[in-house]
Amino acid sequence: MPVISVPHDFNEEDLYIDLRPLTGHSLYLKCEGFNFAGSIKLKAAAEMVAQAERQGRLVAGSVLVESSSGNLGVALAMIAASEGYGFVCVTDARCNLATRLMMEAMGARVHVVSQPDPEGGLLGARLAYVRRLCAADPRHVWLSQYTNPGNWQAHYRSTAPAIARAFPRLDVLFVGAGTTGTLMGCARFFKDRHSPVRVVAVDTMGSVTFGGPPGRRMIPGLGMAVPPPLLDVSYVDEVVRVAEAETVRTCRQLARRGFVFGGSTGTVVRGAADWLARHGARGLTSVAISPDLGERYLDTVYQANWVEALYGPEALDTAPPPGAENPGGAPAGGPAGAGAGRREHAPVRRGARHTGR
Ligand SMILES: Cc1ncc(COP(=O)(O)O)c(C=O)c1O
Repeated sequence: MPVISVPHDFNEEDLYIDLRPLTGHSLYLKCEGFNFAGSIKLKAAAEMVAQAERQGRLVAGSVLVESSSGNLGVALAMIAASEGYGFVCVTDARCNLATRLMMEAMGARVHVVSQPDPEGGLLGARLAYVRRLCAADPRHVWLSQYTNPGNWQAHYRSTAPAIARAFPRLDVLFVGAGTTGTLMGCARFFKDRHSPVRVVAVDTMGSVTFGGPPGRRMIPGLGMAVPPPLLDVSYVDEVVRVAEAETVRTCRQLARRGFVFGGSTGTVVRGAADWLARHGARGLTSVAISPDLGERYLDTVYQANWVEALYGPEALDTAPPPGAENPGGAPAGGPAGAGAGRREHAPVRRGARHTGR
């Protein structure tokens, strides 16, 4: 029975969903949304805060400041509240109301940028505001998730070793790419060990991360308007891109089975299913990472009017994709020691009793 005294002492590290009924392939979805911040960004936040404290940058009286469209902001608001730091989250109109209210409930100040920078867009305007705050008052500490190595190191220390333990004979790992912290931490872990695991990045169409043309992106989490500084493509085996309409459809298909996930999970699951279908991948064991759950997306991805207005009526179709419901083929290797009730709760606390290593 886990008993905790600070919120970041709890994180469910070993929960997977068998997606064979939905995709027809041996695909397991690693759920990262079961902690008090509600997302995978708790790990990056805890690691970056711990490193800043060790470096002496973050001290009593410091005020954390970060540009975030949501999940990292919630995680930092939680750690700041628990540890007694101030926190300013700089965001834009795409940050949904529930996320904003949640940060404010924990004592954060949320600044919403409304005017895009002529060159850098909304992200450029957010970063310019962060820089102004830091220049005006030295108590501000900017962790800078887009450039901070602690962002990927968190996943090198926890997410990737947990997957390797659970799936000792893993063939393919699908990871969504936002700041690329999750992707780089996992890819570096497996490549440093000369593991045969193929690491497939999943990006959203309209993102420039892997060189695609920029375009409209309405679902937060994945994709970038400028190349992510943490990305080293030499660690990535392949890239899959998914249109937002397909992301929405996949989220809604999962929801009709009782699994309500965040938007980026739909992207990663769709990308993984497409890749597995293209590669005739019967017999391969694969894992995809789900960054968060769906409650923060009820008024977007799960709202019929919003979906229809942006993507047309086809995006509302929740019929299962071809190939689903009929797994067939050679059985692939499942997780080690799988079974109902097997549970392990891993803390991501600062100072890090991380799982693995
Ligand atoms: C919902 C969601 N999905 C995916 C990501 C991408 O993760 P990363 O920044 O590690 O690439 C994020 C990052 O904030 C996110 O909030």
